[in-house]
Amino acid sequence: MNQADPGGAETRPQVLVLDTGGQYTHLIARKIRELGVYCEIVASETPASELAGARGLIISGGPASVYEAGSPQVDPAIFELPAAILGICYGQQLMAFHRGGKVEKGEKGEYGLAHLELSGSGRLFKGVAGRQQIWMSHRDTVTAAPRGFVVLGSTSTCAIAAIGDEGRRQYGVQFHPEVVHTPCGKQVLANFLFDIAGCRVDWNPKDQISRIEEEIRRNAAGRNVFFFVSGGVDSTVAFTLCLRALGPERVRALYVDTGLMREGETAFVRGVFEQLGRGVFSVEQAAERFLARLAGVRDPEKKRHIIGELFVEVQEQILESGHYLEQHWVLGQGTIYPDTIESGGTAKADLIKTHHNRVAGIRRLIAEGRLVEPLHLLYKDEVREVGEALGLPAELIHRHPFPGPGLAIRCLCEDAGRSSEATPDGYVVPLHSVGVQGDSRSYRPVLVLGQSPVAPGIEERATDAINRMPGINRVAALAGSHTPLDRLTTQRAYITGERLERLRAADRIVREICHDSGFEQDVWQFPVILAPLGTPDRPDSVVLRPIFSVDGMTASAVIMPGTLLEAMTTRLLALDGICAVLYDLTHKPPGTIEWE
Ligand code: XMP
Repeated sequence: MNQADPGGAETRPQVLVLDTGGQYTHLIARKIRELGVYCEIVASETPASELAGARGLIISGGPASVYEAGSPQVDPAIFELPAAILGICYGQQLMAFHRGGKVEKGEKGEYGLAHLELSGSGRLFKGVAGRQQIWMSHRDTVTAAPRGFVVLGSTSTCAIAAIGDEGRRQYGVQFHPEVVHTPCGKQVLANFLFDIAGCRVDWNPKDQISRIEEEIRRNAAGRNVFFFVSGGVDSTVAFTLCLRALGPERVRALYVDTGLMREGETAFVRGVFEQLGRGVFSVEQAAERFLARLAGVRDPEKKRHIIGELFVEVQEQILESGHYLEQHWVLGQGTIYPDTIESGGTAKADLIKTHHNRVAGIRRLIAEGRLVEPLHLLYKDEVREVGEALGLPAELIHRHPFPGPGLAIRCLCEDAGRSSEATPDGYVVPLHSVGVQGDSRSYRPVLVLGQSPVAPGIEERATDAINRMPGINRVAALAGSHTPLDRLTTQRAYITGERLERLRAADRIVREICHDSGFEQDVWQFPVILAPLGTPDRPDSVVLRPIFSVDGMTASAVIMPGTLLEAMTTRLLALDGICAVLYDLTHKPPGTIEWE
């Protein structure tokens, strides 16, 4: 392979991904960077004159049809540029459409796994065997290749699954080489980058540290930087880079203790920051204020609203009392690349972060351009690599995501006590939780199955029940209980110090067992929820929600090993006030990850 460009000074993208609105656009860019080539995402309609310096252009997939008015387009002049071009899915269709080929709606769609049969040889498929598993997601197809292109591969339902014009170095694939379900995808992309486009290896996130530090010094321009830190990976890595660039006298990390964090969290975050630099970290104790405002509130949206508002108030006070709005301060933020470039279904992430940005003082700083965002070009995995290179603790770098509003959205509340209703599938328990069904949020009861969470075939039964029963949005199974299921009732309960302590104790047990057994590495996140279901002496139940996900947008429930679950259940049932342990079997959609 080619020589790496040491230091990667002012990195200019050798490859540009033209975004036509596909959910995998960021995945394409990440794969290219994983192969060691720096690339960025640009709008698909970017004029060809602005793309002229790139060695390779990749047109992404997207949900539109090329022949529909208003569908995302590319500047046709890009096909005259010297750059090599790869069109993926919609990108292939767009390429065929512009070069004089034909695109039509397929008789039936092709979604999921398929097999590609290669025909002839071409540089794009060098080193790839003649029959390959690939991942498809399309309805429209190219039905006639443009002049100068040859068909390089087909599947049983798609006669033109790959095309190429070797002379002009333009290629199209109907399948998705960027997803893991296309095992040869990495080879195909590497062939495009190195053999076809002539790219050299120029990207390793670790080599960016000195460039980022230089950029921080330039942007800070003699001023100091303060951060609101959460203990998450992004804000901690961004802060560490500023600390290295500017020294401990010029940076401050401010942390709000809402009292809604996990056990030991504040101490852990304090430990990390004090290790980084003496006197750089300060905590604002606000637990009592949060608890007082949340008293007697049941509705999840209301809880979120209260927390968001109060967070803003507390931040305003910190800004005022610490004089952080004076001109010699700028705001540091851990914004990463997907949030910089809006694309590929990151709208939720943007929404999630808004409540931290609503502070008037912070809005003013942003409007005045008094902002330092050291990670604005990096993906999450790249931030982790940088964090490792900076020597931050592995425990911090590899921690599971944790929601901003904290345990408040894992501490379920109900206004009245009600009993469950027996159905042929199990009990419909009147515990309401949030779900996503048909693009909107639902708030519905949960079905609790009679079988154990590790019974064979339980996942199929859960999926079948949720599809049949319109009144529910979740299915759980009973892992253990002090009282028979038919005698459990929901209890009137809100967020209180006592319930938060109970939830923290349950969460600690689950985390300990997951850590010691290594199970934490098999899941993306493992929320532990406290639900007011039980008896007057033991008013709450614990819900276990281990899931697998890539970005939190969709998720699947993970079944844990039976012995581990048994050990966990025994310890949870021994806690004061805990009546039963439930296991959430719901995928997202229709259930959300959190219960709220
Ligand atoms: P849901 O429950 O919507 O959660 O399926 C998807 C992912 O987002 C996390 N989450 C949040 N993260 N602030 C955050 O930083 C929030 O307000 C928030 N709400 C949910 C959740 O933990 C899951 O990973």
